[in-house]
Amino acid sequence: MPLDLRPLVLAIGLASPALAQQTADAVAPEEATAPATLAGLSPAAQAAWDTKAAGQPTQAQDWMVAAANPLAVETGARVLREGGTAADAMVAVQAVLGLVEPQSSGLGGGAFLVWYDAASGEVTTLDGRETAPLAATPRLFQDETGEPLGFFDAVVGGRSVGTPGTPALMEEAHRRWGTANWPGLFTEAIALAEDGFTVSPRLAELVAGDADRLGRFPATTDYFYPGGTAIAAGDILTNIAYADTLRQIAAGGARAFYEGPIAEDIVTAVRTAAGNPGVLSTTDLALYEVKERPAVCVGYRVHEVCGMGPPSSGALTVGQILGMLGSYDLAALGAEAPEAWRLIGDASRIAFADRGRYMADSDFVPVPTEGLVAPAYLSDRAQLLSGDDALPEVAPGTPEWDHALLWADDQALELPSTSHISIVDSAGNALSMTTTIENAFGSRLMARGFLLNNELTDFSFRSHSDGVPIANRVEPGKRPRSSMAPSIVLTDGAPSLVIGSPGGSRIIGYVAQAIIAWADWGMDVQQAVALPHGVNRFGTFDLEAGTPAEALQAPLEAMGFEVSIRELNSGLHAIAVGDVLQGGADPRREGIAMGE
Ligand code: DON
Repeated sequence: MPLDLRPLVLAIGLASPALAQQTADAVAPEEATAPATLAGLSPAAQAAWDTKAAGQPTQAQDWMVAAANPLAVETGARVLREGGTAADAMVAVQAVLGLVEPQSSGLGGGAFLVWYDAASGEVTTLDGRETAPLAATPRLFQDETGEPLGFFDAVVGGRSVGTPGTPALMEEAHRRWGTANWPGLFTEAIALAEDGFTVSPRLAELVAGDADRLGRFPATTDYFYPGGTAIAAGDILTNIAYADTLRQIAAGGARAFYEGPIAEDIVTAVRTAAGNPGVLSTTDLALYEVKERPAVCVGYRVHEVCGMGPPSSGALTVGQILGMLGSYDLAALGAEAPEAWRLIGDASRIAFADRGRYMADSDFVPVPTEGLVAPAYLSDRAQLLSGDDALPEVAPGTPEWDHALLWADDQALELPSTSHISIVDSAGNALSMTTTIENAFGSRLMARGFLLNNELTDFSFRSHSDGVPIANRVEPGKRPRSSMAPSIVLTDGAPSLVIGSPGGSRIIGYVAQAIIAWADWGMDVQQAVALPHGVNRFGTFDLEAGTPAEALQAPLEAMGFEVSIRELNSGLHAIAVGDVLQGGADPRREGIAMGE
């Protein structure tokens, strides 16, 4: 008998603030939820916030920007209103995010960017992922007996810090696609850093929940615990060191970051981190390069879903999930059918089996990129879904591949922070960028007003399993495997949806689910990002606590799934492109979508 899950859909329009409220009590430090409102919003930002809270998409004709903090979105809106491109706006948005949402992304981190160029109709992807220092070895995260370190023993301190990529990515995107004056893109961020910005409830909650780790390093303690007390929501916080760093980048470009005193201070912070120093050097910074990579595009229904290939597993895994589901009529099943979630859940498990075996930095290890998303391979794998119950066991497949090496399964662990930016400009260019310092507050080390990433803990801590090498092991200069899935969906060759999310390896499920909600279930972009989550990566079916998704527990258990009810703190920001632009911002976080 079909289960009546109507509230799963019907609640969406009303769900936004209520959903956040219901879940606010049980948050882990890294998973603070969005407040009912934010202090000090401009009238335009307040209107965008109210639209989100009402469960509606923001509408616009000309341009749109969606990101995780209203101050950052307003800065991007100013750039777009003045005729800047999506690349220009991204630089301005990222500069402000690094100040007002420092726990998630910033100059000390890395990012992946997907760009649709209106003039050429081409999709380009840029890899601004952190690199492992040249002095790193595969045993970076192992103790003297070769056993993996505890996760936070590895994260907190200098050991986990990779060479930041975000400043170089900002510059490269602006060099290729920007038209605005570079220094002018930092104006608001510098002013906010000097005059002060209002601390958001989410930032305050995360600071309060991370006292022990943030308290280990004097520069970090001084900033987040001035005078020994945690910053509180509504406080006005300045960051003079950050303003100075931005001024130097505004005047001297990314080079001012990668060479000279800023680079030296980053290296000093890493190498002198008390209790857990790292091996990053000024040479690593001086050698850092953004890489253009081929976009990974997979057909889904009438669409092409394009995104970031290795070293991210994002587009390959999202593409595998959607590619397998293409043989099943999810539209006919509908969002309320446990059967639809069985298919999504097990397609995801199958894709994660391949992800764990094959996906890593393809500059260092051969990756069967094309074979993994070849239509014949995916339709073969989709046959596994043809039963009625949960798959008892899921194993990696054998995609077409001319390389003899086979890897052991990965054993990396991931925990939350990160931010996603979606932008469409008035020329029709589209930008999708997921940006991160990895864990909330990264390594907890600060230099020059920004936090340093802990991205290297996205590598597998083990280098081998039963004597077989793991593809995602640490190697000097290598980029750790990511799950970030900045995506641009094309319909008839033009962008129809720009989307991405934070969430560690759950990003893959969040993005795939939102694309399905929009493409198959007829949801608008705000409904798609607000839809309660069901995510299955390695076997356990995670259902979003405090939402109608909990009603899936009994039917999924009856199919043989092990169900876990938990917080699922996505941060989806999306823009649907049609006759008008529609923006969606995740009700679980503090972002908005604005456009004109
Ligand atoms: O690159 C990755 O996949 C992770 N470092 C992203 C971390 C993340 O999304 C945390 N999210 N809440």
